[in-house]
Amino acid sequence: IWSVDKESDSLSGHPQIIQASLWIKKNEVIAFPTETVYGLGGNAESDEAIEKIFAAKGRPSDNPLIVHISSVNQLEGLVADIPKRAQLLMDAFWPGPLTLVLPKGERVSRRVTAGLSTVAVRMPDHPVALELIKESGLPLAAPSANISGRPSPTAARHVFEDLKGRIPGILDGGPTGVGVESTVVDCTSEKLTILRPGGVTKEELEEVAGESAVDPALTTNESAAPKSPGMKYTHYAPDAPLYLVDGSSAFLQQLVDKEKARGRITGVLTSDENADFYDADTVIPCGSRKALESVAHHLYDALRAFNESEADIIFSEVFPKKGVGTAIMNRLEKSAGGKIIKE
Ligand code: TXA
Ligand code: MG
Repeated sequence: IWSVDKESDSLSGHPQIIQASLWIKKNEVIAFPTETVYGLGGNAESDEAIEKIFAAKGRPSDNPLIVHISSVNQLEGLVADIPKRAQLLMDAFWPGPLTLVLPKGERVSRRVTAGLSTVAVRMPDHPVALELIKESGLPLAAPSANISGRPSPTAARHVFEDLKGRIPGILDGGPTGVGVESTVVDCTSEKLTILRPGGVTKEELEEVAGESAVDPALTTNESAAPKSPGMKYTHYAPDAPLYLVDGSSAFLQQLVDKEKARGRITGVLTSDENADFYDADTVIPCGSRKALESVAHHLYDALRAFNESEADIIFSEVFPKKGVGTAIMNRLEKSAGGKIIKE
């Protein structure tokens, strides 16, 4: 683990970042912090590096990767075209938690895009990530640095839990900020389409680029194939089954009591406001309803914490699908594998 103080004045020439970049140049893969979650980065132009990413994560090979850049000059050869509204979005949100899906350029490995004619790109808003990309002199393909299916890592210790022994190193820049992944937006369709809700909200996108659509696979229960291949997998899941509870705290507590009576060890994922209300074996608060950003920030750490408890069933509160709440609920629905109990 290579520790880097992200607050230091200049990271240029930082020995730990140089160390990490040497592995990247040798087509090895290392983990690094971004403002959303930790990424598992490798040379986006090398099939060898990309294969190592898929192998380390145990990721299905039909799920394409996001390419991370530190300067818009790197888009040359990476994308074939930059439509006007993509340019507006870059100007407004980069560096930041927004990934743009654009027509693929000739320099991207087909392994990165899983054979699609498009490529996903983003410029992360994190000094360590930006310096690593700059120092490597290469665009970095990077998925979240977790074992496929587990909650994404928001701290270096999460990466260590999942990937120790599988990669040469982790750049530790402290806990990430946003806590959920970037918003993925398709800029190649007629209407801007949100493929994955994330750190930049629909409301914020529309202020810059006009009306947007949401991939129907995200909002209906029909088996429409999602356009962001990653969205079709069960994801972000703790080891024990998790149920979303759409109802009052008293109703959720009744569910807990029933399970306790059957001898089950219970867990509750709650907002800070209701934490004192519940009587369960493990109660984990994950932030305030008055600041959903705090819930996004703590969500994955909270989901992982249940694995350290003995809980064999978890009940979770639901959150309003507004602002970053849309991304929070998208991830919770995936962790629950769609299991929701209505009062
Ligand atoms: O915040 C983030 O985006 C983090 C950090 C590390 O940057 N990365 C991340 O990567 O979440 P990953 O691989 O866990 O998720 C990438 C998502 C997947 O759902 C994938 O299917 C989608 O982006 N994606 C990648 N390329 C695509 C493409 N060409 N068209 C549509 N979806 C694409
Ligand atoms: Mg991921």
